[in-house]
Amino acid sequence: MEKIHVGIVGGGTVGGGVWQALQRNGPLMAARLGVALEVTGVAVRDPGRARAVDIPRDRITGDWLTVVEDSRNRIIVELMGGTSTAREVVRRALSLGKPVVTANKALISAHGPELFALAAKNGTNLYYEAAVAGGIPIIKAIRESFAGNRLLRIAGIVNGTCNYILTRMKLEGADFADVLADAQRLGYAEAEPSLDIDGHDAAHKTGILASLAHGFWVKPEEIHTEGIRHVSKLDIQFAAQLGYTIRLLGIVQPVAAPKSRSKRAGSAAIQVTVYPALVPNSHVLASVNHAFNAVAIRGDVVGDTLFYGRGAGQDPTASSVLSDLADAVLDLRAGNHHRVPPFVAHDGSAKVAPIDGIVSRFYVRLEVADRPGVFARIASILAQARIGISSIIQPEGHAGETVPVILMLDEATNEATRKAMARIARLPVVKAPPVVLRVENLD
Ligand code: NAP
Ligand code: HSE
Repeated sequence: MEKIHVGIVGGGTVGGGVWQALQRNGPLMAARLGVALEVTGVAVRDPGRARAVDIPRDRITGDWLTVVEDSRNRIIVELMGGTSTAREVVRRALSLGKPVVTANKALISAHGPELFALAAKNGTNLYYEAAVAGGIPIIKAIRESFAGNRLLRIAGIVNGTCNYILTRMKLEGADFADVLADAQRLGYAEAEPSLDIDGHDAAHKTGILASLAHGFWVKPEEIHTEGIRHVSKLDIQFAAQLGYTIRLLGIVQPVAAPKSRSKRAGSAAIQVTVYPALVPNSHVLASVNHAFNAVAIRGDVVGDTLFYGRGAGQDPTASSVLSDLADAVLDLRAGNHHRVPPFVAHDGSAKVAPIDGIVSRFYVRLEVADRPGVFARIASILAQARIGISSIIQPEGHAGETVPVILMLDEATNEATRKAMARIARLPVVKAPPVVLRVENLD
């Protein structure tokens, strides 16, 4: 049987998982593909370090360049993370005309256009299924399975670490810091966990999905990004009382429908956002727990679809890397240089919608002085901003000088709500910065 040699750069959580999975299912893949994969070398930072996955010593090296340049290696897998050396690794491999498989969403997000162009120039492919939503085959679904659809909405839970933290805070009342430490121990979190909890990792992934779906490159700095640091157990509990679950959502949707059939699809501005939001418990995304991810996609032909699976961790991510390896092997065998362009520009006129124009409902928690007339002053500011209040809760049993007030606001633009909240925050009776979270019904 023909053999294709593979070089891997990175032998940590995902690299170790790929090595392990190839030991387990290599023969199965060979039977399916008609080609056997052999890993000639795994480059790591510290070859002497003890590893959870037993990669034979003679395959490990501290020199990534030898792995990339080894003439036996026809496919390079980049699993080291980061955007500097990893970029060099990918650039070098693509320049040699070698297809590259990567799980590195930060790299694709920051340097996608350059790397896809380099792949095209050198007649090769850049595969990145593992970069978004772990084991869920979402890239292939959007790029290929929905090629005949206009995508009306993508709403996804795409960061396993944040979902794990929010789930355990809700179900166990666990503390943020403790759960983050568990997420790190379980291999879900990025080497720099602020990428997860400040929403950047989800923004990298959401931007990649938006770019694929709408055919223009979304720069990470264009994505309105909020993380979950400010989500407290109190808000999780109040949301639960109101029938909602807080989830970090990546949302991609045109904000203005084309005015006429003749107007080209995609010319509308596209919402591309990441923020924690209250999701009604009746919606399937509210039931996505722990490190699972889910992406709900609405297409104009297919209607509503849902993709669900493990979004982080060793084995699920390895599964997506193996899927890309299979594609790379089949493309090499068939001589398909750039068979499936990994990113296809198809509407240069689309653009990211500014956050201030995005409309949603809002949950607001205020800590206010416990005295008469306070609420009237808050309501007056909201009325002046033409923001309706759909419900108010002032829980009983809060002894002390301040009490929480929870407001559920009607739909309003981000700008109107932001300005009204700034005025409310300045009232002397408001004793802490307002907590403001969006409410997404996802109808
Ligand atoms: P990790 O456990 O920290 O592993 C990183 C690996 O890269 C380690 O083996 C490290 O070597 C190696 N490395 C670092 N610098 C290097 C250098 N200069 N030369 C050669 N090797 C170097 O990270 P990970 O969790 O596997 O993540 C890898 C990539 O997959 C990242 O892009 C991440 O975003 C992405 N990803 C991760 C997950 C997940 O659940 N973990 C899921 C999807 C995507 P040492 O072992 O010697 O330190
Ligand atoms: N740190 C990422 C997450 C890994 O928690 O989702 C998967 O991309």
